Amino acid sequence: MCGFIVPKNAQILINVWAMGRDSSIWQNPNLFMPERFLEQEIDFKGRYFELIPFGAGRRICPGLPLANRMVHLMLASLVYYYAWKLPYEMRPEHMDMGETFGLTLHREVPLRAIPFKSFCKSGAPIDIGRAVLTTVLNAISNNFFSIDLAKYDSNLSHEFQDLFCDVTEEAGRPNIADYFPALRLIDPQRVRKRTRIYFSKLFGIFDGIIDQRLQLRLHQRVLKKATMN
Ligand code: HEM
Repeated sequence: MCGFIVPKNAQILINVWAMGRDSSIWQNPNLFMPERFLEQEIDFKGRYFELIPFGAGRRICPGLPLANRMVHLMLASLVYYYAWKLPYEMRPEHMDMGETFGLTLHREVPLRAIPFKSFCKSGAPIDIGRAVLTTVLNAISNNFFSIDLAKYDSNLSHEFQDLFCDVTEEAGRPNIADYFPALRLIDPQRVRKRTRIYFSKLFGIFDGIIDQRLQLRLHQRVLKKATMN
């Protein structure tokens, strides 16, 4: 392909970051200019390869329709219900916009801002990324379990969210065994070991929910029997 030989079963990583900053495709690629998309025909649904935030083809992100609704709703809710200011009289141009690598590229320093309209009485800055993560996790956990798995203010829930972040970071960290499959058995970076620990903790949480459900169902059956007798 294009003069390269791609061996069978090769793992290919597409550098979407570089595509998004390619000055032969985008004007002023490093400027945050959402309005640039107003003049374009292209969309993000995998048909235009210069913009594939959700991937493309058969392995395209299956969460695209959900994300497409959630992202607008969440951002609109944050902007509509609150007015925001940065903590410590910080000016927007002084914000640290450094990025760090994970399953997704995210900010190195979390975005903390103070909502100063309507419900917020404390005036304390909140971690917006955390608040959004909580909402997304709950939207997903309600689909599967009909409950909120994450809460904004409980320690257990913070543990769950930390675990979720650890798993996504682990999944995104470059693993030498992906490039040299012969190393997979040795697992030189201990990725498999850590992943096993994370997943056993996650399954522990899910098992707890399933046990609670079963107990509730049993309790309801006993109650029903007792009222029938
Ligand atoms: C703005 C939000 C999101 C973005 C930018 C995004 C992006 C992506 C990308 C780039 C991929 C890799 C696609 C490829 O290999 O070509 C992917 C895969 C995936 N995404 Fe998302 N995603 C988002 C939200 C979601 C949500 C909300 C869910 C689930 C509820 C989800 C579930 C998945 C799954 C299960 C895969 C793996 C698909 C596979 O490998 O076959 N994503 N996503």
